[in-house]
Amino acid sequence: MNFGGLIVYLPSLFQMMYFNQKHTVAEISKRGLYAPLALQRYSFGSRLVNKPLEVACRIKGLNSRFLVDILESFENLEYDQAGKFSSFPTPVIVDYLRRTHQLYLLKKLPEIEQSINHLVFGYQYHQPYLVAIKALFKRYKQNLEIHIQEEEKKFFPHALYVYDQYHRGGCLSKFSKKLQKYSANDFAEHHDDTETELMLIRKAIIKYAPKEVEESLHRVLISQIETFIHDLKIHAMIEDEVLVPKIKELEQKAMGNQLNYKLITK
Ligand SMILES: [Fe+2]
Ligand SMILES: [Fe+2]
Repeated sequence: MNFGGLIVYLPSLFQMMYFNQKHTVAEISKRGLYAPLALQRYSFGSRLVNKPLEVACRIKGLNSRFLVDILESFENLEYDQAGKFSSFPTPVIVDYLRRTHQLYLLKKLPEIEQSINHLVFGYQYHQPYLVAIKALFKRYKQNLEIHIQEEEKKFFPHALYVYDQYHRGGCLSKFSKKLQKYSANDFAEHHDDTETELMLIRKAIIKYAPKEVEESLHRVLISQIETFIHDLKIHAMIEDEVLVPKIKELEQKAMGNQLNYKLITK
């Protein structure tokens, strides 16, 4: 905005938004466009929604400062968000990622699949591409399930093991042997992007689904996919820019020798 030649920078509405632990869960849900989505994985029941966030978190054994930072990231994804998470302990970060995986597997993926099924069931004869879109989503879902399983079975247990080794100590030669077999570097090298394929499916739906015939169904499906893409971007940021660098650093510190660490992790 220009006032008499003076350029005044106005931050976006979302950039100005803030979340406070003193506010109730119900109030926080109304403060941001994505706040209900961000809170969905923490399932604050009716018993807790009218309690301040810090109290509700204490009752559920959650870190309320972490939740506030997550809420802000959901609203301000266009700005660099990773730095503020580096101070949180590994178990808090892994807990967020695990809860998010459950949300995807039990709610987000089935909801999108159901919407696609409705569209295919009603309109496949007018628009045969819908069957191809259904097949594309099925493949995407299977790949995401494998992706999640790999992280749950391999990388997250590794991350917690490294955290434990660093804080409680343990046999260094056993730790070094484990790192030779699998380290954060190995995970990072093979960690795929999960958003791009879904963005292509979204494009195909916009192009081929008969929105003039069933506008509300079409709108719901696009909105479900866009919300999911937004969630996936934050998920990827927490994995790639927060958890991986943190575990690399802990691996190195737990080894206590930078040269040894570089040799064993290639
Ligand atoms: Fe993940
Ligand atoms: Fe991932």
